[in-house]
Amino acid sequence: MIAIGCDHGGYQLKQVVMEHLKERGLACRDFGTYSPDPCDYPGYARAVSHAVADGECEKGILICGTGIGVSIAANKVPGIRAALCHDCFSAQATREHNDANILAMGARVIGEGLALKIVDLFLDTPFSNQERHARRIRLIEESDD
Ligand code: RB5
Repeated sequence: MIAIGCDHGGYQLKQVVMEHLKERGLACRDFGTYSPDPCDYPGYARAVSHAVADGECEKGILICGTGIGVSIAANKVPGIRAALCHDCFSAQATREHNDANILAMGARVIGEGLALKIVDLFLDTPFSNQERHARRIRLIEESDD
């Protein structure tokens, strides 16, 4: 199950991504927002992040205008590694190296075609399981500055 959420800036792209997931036969749970009316992104980012951190959903996708606000909010939730990706290399690398569990994108930054490629790479690329990457993820989890 994929958790998905957005604010008004990401609403239209979220509809496109959900349709794409459906075509791929992937189930998703939509945490809103449910209209293009202006709203505040932190609550939607938090809802998706908790669904992933609690194990209710395997991965999450968050979309706002830039992707920045939702990624900042998501990364405040313990256990979340949200990656802001606007290119294919980063989407693949963040799965392989960071075991990122949430993909953040900015609908005002990239087009729909690239966004769907990024979604596919993010969902289809496994974590490398290499010790050096696992160690670095542990170090992130252990840090409480
Ligand atoms: C909304 O205008 C915009 O600020 C929001 O979608 C996002 O880009 C914030 O980081």
